[in-house]
Parts: sequence; C-alpha cells; structure tokens
Amino acid sequence: MFNPDEDLNIELLKQVGCPSWVIKHSQAVKQKALQIAENFKVDLELVETGALLHDIGRCKTNGVEHGIVGAQMLSEMGFPDSVVKIVERHIGAGIPLQEAVEMNLPPKDYLPLTLEEKIVAHADNLLDGSQEVELDFVIKKWKARMGHDHPAIDRLIVLHQELML
Ligand SMILES: [Fe+2]
Repeated sequence: MFNPDEDLNIELLKQVGCPSWVIKHSQAVKQKALQIAENFKVDLELVETGALLHDIGRCKTNGVEHGIVGAQMLSEMGFPDSVVKIVERHIGAGIPLQEAVEMNLPPKDYLPLTLEEKIVAHADNLLDGSQEVELDFVIKKWKARMGHDHPAIDRLIVLHQELML
C-alpha cells in the first residue's frame, strides 16, 4: 500500500537523498496535480502520492532515465504498481517504445495510460522548478531542447487538451 501523507513522503525523499529543489518541485507538482484532478473522477490519494514521489529517481540521476530509476526504487520498496507506473511514465507526455529504443532506454512503452498517470505527468510539465508555467512556455522549451517538430510536442498538446478543461 501507499500513504498519501505529505510529510511521510517528503521524509522518504529526504532519506534517499533528494535535494531540496526536488522536494519543493514535488510539492508544487502535487498542488498542480490536485488542481487538475478536480475536474475528474480519480483516486486523489494516488495522484497525491504519485506527484510527491514522481521524481524520487533524481536522488540517483537527473537524466531522462530518472523515471525508470525511481519506479524501480519504489517497486523494490514494495509500492503498488499504480504508484510505480505513475513514476515510470511521467517523463514529458510519455515516451513510446520506438523513441525509448532510440534513447537507449529499456525497450518499453512509457506512455501514461490512466488518468492518474496523465495528471501527474502533465502537472509536472506545467511546472518549471516550483514555478507554474503556461503551455506556450513548455512548447518553446521543448522545441529548443528537442527540435521544432519532435513528436513529443504533439503529445504534450494532446495531453493538455485532454486534461485542461
Ligand atoms: Fe521527473
């Protein structure tokens, strides 16, 4: 099982060595995720827990694989698959198998499927550190980083349209 209590999950992030910026960011992602979740029938405790722990892998790496690393950590700690998958699928608007292969990630589909997975991934997209940002800002940032016509940008826009009613 998991416990949505913020103090408890923050304590876990500290224990594994997450820096304070990750903790501040994770608290901001939780707030944003709960705000998005207001428009949907979802498991709020799962959203809360997944949001607080989504970046736990950053105690080991800040590379794109931090989602996979974090998911592995939580799985080993006995967290249920529902939380593990939120963490594993939170990078950008998700990464499909073919792109994962091109990025040398373990070959797997990393697209968020459940609403809880999508909400945490997108709340994270709408934060720059602990500062909330607009979709346009994120699109500009991603275009600069990944190229103008990277398919991740379309996925971001589709996810935004699905969640931001
Ligand atoms: Fe992350």
